[in-house]
Amino acid sequence: MAMPDLSRSPDLDFAALDLNFEAFRELARNPHLDAHGKIGFPTAYREGYEPAIFEDIVAKLPRLRSDRGLTVADIGAGCAALPRMLIDLCAEQGHRLVLVDSAEMLAMLPDVEGVTHKVAGAFPACGPALREAAPDGVDALICYSVLHYMFVDTNVFDVVDATVDLLAPRGRALYGDIPNLSKRRRLFASPTGKAVHRAYTGRDEDPPLDLDQPLRGKIDDGVLSGMIHRAQTAGCDAYLLPQNEGLPMANRRDDLLIARP
Ligand SMILES: C[S@@+](CC[C@H](N)C(=O)[O-])C[C@H]1O[C@@H](n2cnc3c(N)ncnc32)[C@H](O)[C@@H]1O
Repeated sequence: MAMPDLSRSPDLDFAALDLNFEAFRELARNPHLDAHGKIGFPTAYREGYEPAIFEDIVAKLPRLRSDRGLTVADIGAGCAALPRMLIDLCAEQGHRLVLVDSAEMLAMLPDVEGVTHKVAGAFPACGPALREAAPDGVDALICYSVLHYMFVDTNVFDVVDATVDLLAPRGRALYGDIPNLSKRRRLFASPTGKAVHRAYTGRDEDPPLDLDQPLRGKIDDGVLSGMIHRAQTAGCDAYLLPQNEGLPMANRRDDLLIARP
């Protein structure tokens, strides 16, 4: 199927798009899309949920609220409500915030006190520029709803290595909102998931399990376990965490936390 013109089409089926860093640059330029569309979400997936998502992030990175004067990085910040909430929290707590994304996305975020740097480029290739912006390391790194796009563009072990390299002592990195194909399959093999599928499709049939297909472009338990092992081997603790149950995709997504002792 031909890819629609992401920078101009007023009517995109987000579920059918194969997005990566370059594709998001085009969405960011599309004048017909609202902030949710520019970050690749149908409005209904995000609108109204951001405060709960943000609280879930802060619960996993509690020093964002308990400490002052930290260095914080938001990788793949996008242009919707989450980075704006983070900008406000960092201003309240006197944190230095480094935003990382394409120049097109970053241009839509405000240049305010506390946002010390905007690093335009794809992570982990932009790691050296990020290190320059945070020479003493990062205390809290957020990368929310981005890892599955990195998985298409780059080696996720490079992502872990660059993250471990950036973390200051006691620093934490949260790779949040990761679609985990294994978790989705477990859900759809269960009575709960079958009922969810029936309610969503309106059809009286079980979800397809697709157990004989290549997993091209998909993250599963094996990928996440490998990333955890990689971070642990490099001297960090690492954990797979559930999302708060009230979040829109909590039943099929995981969060990965990497913590330097
Ligand atoms: C689904 S949006 C998420 C935006 C924001 N984190 C949120 O949850 O509201 C994905 C974002 O990641 C950015 N992105 C994709 N790959 C990236 C990479 N390798 N490095 C930095 N940003 C990336 C895209 O430009 C886009 O803004």
